[in-house]
Amino acid sequence: MANCRRLAGLVLLSAALAFALPAASRAQPLRTGFYETSCPDAEALVRQAVASAVASNPGLAAGLIRLHFHDCFVRGCDASVLIFSPNGTAERDSPPNNPSLRGFEVIDAAKAAIEQRCPRTVSCADILAFAARDSVNLTGNVFYQVPAGRRDGNVSLFADAFTLPGPNLTATELVEGFRNRSLTAEEMVILSGAHTIGRSHCASFLFKNRERLANGTISPAYQALLEALCPPTTGQFTLVTTEIDLSTPTVLDNNYYKLLPLNLGLHFSDDQLIRNATLVPFVDAFAANETLWKERFVAAMIKMGNIDVLTGTQGEIRLNCSAVNTPSSSDWMIETILPDAVGEVAAS
Ligand code: HEM
Repeated sequence: MANCRRLAGLVLLSAALAFALPAASRAQPLRTGFYETSCPDAEALVRQAVASAVASNPGLAAGLIRLHFHDCFVRGCDASVLIFSPNGTAERDSPPNNPSLRGFEVIDAAKAAIEQRCPRTVSCADILAFAARDSVNLTGNVFYQVPAGRRDGNVSLFADAFTLPGPNLTATELVEGFRNRSLTAEEMVILSGAHTIGRSHCASFLFKNRERLANGTISPAYQALLEALCPPTTGQFTLVTTEIDLSTPTVLDNNYYKLLPLNLGLHFSDDQLIRNATLVPFVDAFAANETLWKERFVAAMIKMGNIDVLTGTQGEIRLNCSAVNTPSSSDWMIETILPDAVGEVAAS
């Protein structure tokens, strides 16, 4: 009997060790319905959290889409953007994210609801991807299935956020930034269409737009409005914001592309899409055909959601989306999966 137990223990232990094989050897493709058995309500719980947050603050839909984008572009879609640092040294503290990124509390609410139902099962990176999808659905009335199975990273660095594309980049730089993440120039234009909703802080456009005024690439009336809105002392922490799409700021539609040729793009980077011969045909096509843009937008969101994902046994399932697991958070694995095996090995 003792031998049997020892054998069973060793089998369990070798299974556990197999799971500890080098991360790359255990990567798996993302797939839709990933939580169908392990946490069937996961996607519904995210949807509830997003719907209730957006009902009280519609702007959060834009915030959640951007949160997923900023997550995926830095260290891949691994929820590194959510990690809180007590000394302000994480991605979310960095100027490209701070103070403009929003929606963290929605992800926390979804995660709390999911942890109650199925503990330690659903990653924060997947919750972010579901929340972005639900935000697209609520603002644009388009639905898509999100392939899932991402796992969470445990590194988040202030400096890494500077690799995010900024509003002062030229068309060439924007294309290159997306190419570095395996996204094409067309996909860059398609995803920029997310700027059909949401808001922007004065520091993101005010100064660069003075150059645009000088060279005739922004409507003078529009820039006058922006100058009147933004304080002259505008800096990173000036909290004044304006809509990015001044025609239909809360609807995910193709108006963003229609505003660009009217010199009504808010950011220099938005305007760049119509100053580059390769990109203009994309802008024209999406301005003319909203259905086409929405189809391609959904496909590009799914592709973006695949950037450098951790899967299989890589990374971890964070217990709290704003903190990496501590060694004590993984004690459960030893206690619940390997009680006998640990006892046997310890005894021998
Ligand atoms: C092409 C390169 C891009 C640049 C340079 C860029 C830049 C910006 C800037 C400067 C803001 C305003 C931040 C602020 O000051 O509040 C912003 C907002 C936003 N961006 Fe982008 N972005 C880019 C691509 C994307 C992509 C790919 C997505 C999503 C697929 C996206 C979604 C959004 C959304 C939804 C907002 C509004 C956020 C809110 O209201 O909270 N952007 N972006």
